[in-house]
Amino acid sequence: MPTKATKRSPRVKPGQREEETLRVLISHQRIRERVRHMAEEIRRDFPNEPIHLVGVLKGSVLFLADLARELGGEVSFDFISVSSYGNGMDSTGEVKMNKDLDVSIEGRSVLVVEDILDTGLTLKYLLVLFEERKPKHLRVAVLLDKVERRIADVKADYTGFVIPNEFVVGYGLDYDERYRNLPDVCVVRLGPRGKTKIEA
Ligand code: PRP
Repeated sequence: MPTKATKRSPRVKPGQREEETLRVLISHQRIRERVRHMAEEIRRDFPNEPIHLVGVLKGSVLFLADLARELGGEVSFDFISVSSYGNGMDSTGEVKMNKDLDVSIEGRSVLVVEDILDTGLTLKYLLVLFEERKPKHLRVAVLLDKVERRIADVKADYTGFVIPNEFVVGYGLDYDERYRNLPDVCVVRLGPRGKTKIEA
């Protein structure tokens, strides 16, 4: 059942506005189990190697933190920040770097960690950028994959969940910078008619 945002409701989520309803799409328990399995899969592929995690700010932060703990072995991490341009939901494909990595990835086994793969334009930009820097291995882990939105020809090596084309928040993902701290991944709906943000 959607959570109705009223002042009296004890089920209102932190940061929730009155006109917004949230529906849990993937519970934190399912996320935890899936992240554990993804970590096992990654460690099977790189059993004795140091793995250098590259998180794409800001959405990947919670996923990266949990994945890093599940991976075990030698793990380091770094972060990059990029913005893609467009009018809200629609990207023009232009990506701008706000913050580069702190250390070189040359010769390292690099795992790019993303919260969501949508059009794929951000990931495409990052993969071209990182390949030029000559890592030993370059792999991608995404928690959520909106396959039907794909424009760029990219795919992740490790995927948590394939999801429908709905506006999702929580577990790192935001709506106007809110909801990143929700433990579950939720669908946001706006307004009395319950339209999703992407329909609005
Ligand atoms: C999200 C996500 C990816 C990108 C995916 O970041 O973290 O980086 O969008 O979209 P694409 O596949 O269409 O390129 P966002 O720009 O929302 O920034 P944030 O992580 O700081 O919230």
